[in-house]
Amino acid sequence: MNSSLGLFDSGIGGFTVLSSVLQRHGNVPSVYLADTKRVPYGDRKPGEIRLIASQVVSWLRDQQVSAVLVACNTTNSLALDILEKEAGVPVFGLISSAAEMVSEKRIGVLATPATAASGAYRTQIEAFKSNAVVFEQSCPKFVPMIEAGDIFGEEIQMVAMNYLRPLLDAGVEEIVFGCSHYPLLTPLFKKLLPEDIRLVDPAIGLAKKLDSVFRINSQGFDKGLSLDSTRFCVTEDPLGFTAKILKWLGESPKVELISLQ
Ligand code: DGL
Repeated sequence: MNSSLGLFDSGIGGFTVLSSVLQRHGNVPSVYLADTKRVPYGDRKPGEIRLIASQVVSWLRDQQVSAVLVACNTTNSLALDILEKEAGVPVFGLISSAAEMVSEKRIGVLATPATAASGAYRTQIEAFKSNAVVFEQSCPKFVPMIEAGDIFGEEIQMVAMNYLRPLLDAGVEEIVFGCSHYPLLTPLFKKLLPEDIRLVDPAIGLAKKLDSVFRINSQGFDKGLSLDSTRFCVTEDPLGFTAKILKWLGESPKVELISLQ
């Protein structure tokens, strides 16, 4: 059986999912697709996001992956039905993983505009935890800033505080990263937030979900990160993406240019 996992995101957000999977399961063969030509997804209309999801899943299907990991909350929130229908293999999303991870009552969710507007996090969390009170905060500026590497300095701090303030005013006890790019800002959030607010990274739950289904953890946990078995593909600027892989994951593998349309 071809056991490669297919992960996709608009850009580098899926690195947080890839890292969690590789750290938990060792060198699982995987295909990572970044739709760099269309990043960010989060400002797009639902119809456009659904079309993108269909194109992405059709491409992954052609790569004969044995499971699809939706490393992008925006497509997870607006097009999970399309992904599940068209993948032809099991599909694992971040939002249901997050819903199983929350433990407090008052829960904040940071997300892209499209994800926040969809209400997908509230719906999923309330389905698991009926007494939960969910506050969804749209964060339009984060993805462009993270992709550009503008993650240090005063501007990102001010932007982050503006998004966090309504959640803090609402008295949230934990905050979910409702966009796969946001765990890349963890040091900033830790600096800005009170220590007792728990941060939830859905990627960790998603990696755990693979335990029982694929038994791909047979090599043992904590193998460390290696990109030897990951194939990276983008829809634009492969060299720029190699530089981003080096910056965030510490290696510079070959990146292939592919076309989705
Ligand atoms: N990282 C993706 C997400 O989790 C996409 C963000 C974007 O492109 O706006 O939503």
